[in-house]
Amino acid sequence: MQKNFIVAIDGPSGAGKSTIARRLAAHLGGVYVDTGALYRAVAVYIKQRGVSPENEAEIARCLSAAPPAIELRQGADGQCVFLNGIEVTREIRLPELSTLTSKIAQSSAVRAFLLDAQRQAARSAPFAVLDGRDIGTVVLPDAPVKIFLTASAEARAERRTAELLAQGVSVRYEDILRDNIARDKRDAVRTTAAPGAYIVDTSALSFDESFDKILDEVLRVREKE
Ligand code: DC
Repeated sequence: MQKNFIVAIDGPSGAGKSTIARRLAAHLGGVYVDTGALYRAVAVYIKQRGVSPENEAEIARCLSAAPPAIELRQGADGQCVFLNGIEVTREIRLPELSTLTSKIAQSSAVRAFLLDAQRQAARSAPFAVLDGRDIGTVVLPDAPVKIFLTASAEARAERRTAELLAQGVSVRYEDILRDNIARDKRDAVRTTAAPGAYIVDTSALSFDESFDKILDEVLRVREKE
């Protein structure tokens, strides 16, 4: 394998990106970088500072005056997220935080702030799998493998509801679907497939079927590198 082989997985929320990306990294001995978690940690920071997600000037001022330290650490139960040394792994997954994150993700100051962090994380290991929205289009357009993972809004809401219920978070499918549709609208500008991306619609596929398709694509490209 060539040095620093990168797989970029983009797509809307709930399409299964993080589960696929995590398993792919584990299967091929690489690191998994959850870029959504970085955005979510910035949202916690902005909330802590009492700044409105609509106040672009104040968000930019805060990020430059007191840049938050965000860290993804590999724990025994998966990836843990730290904001200024304090663990926020659970907090970042709460539904209200998801809504706030999709709002602050529209801020160009937030996107500029996270650009370098994402690139550095991608280059920190010989093999990295990143999932997000604009990894293949903006963050790492030279990534040798670009995947666009998508699914219907209903299939995605069903999966997210089951995931949150399993974590003990009390949620309703209807609320998740409504929130997902609103977030999709806000995220839509950025959530586009990169030119040449391998597009996988997981609506009617099992997890294993989706994973196998993507693994085949990664191995096919890796062989040519
Ligand atoms: O993948 P996720 O649901 O954890 O992402 C949370 C939010 O962050 C989502 O609304 C879109 C945004 N995001 C983004 O704009 N760019 C990324 N690379 C990753 C996430």
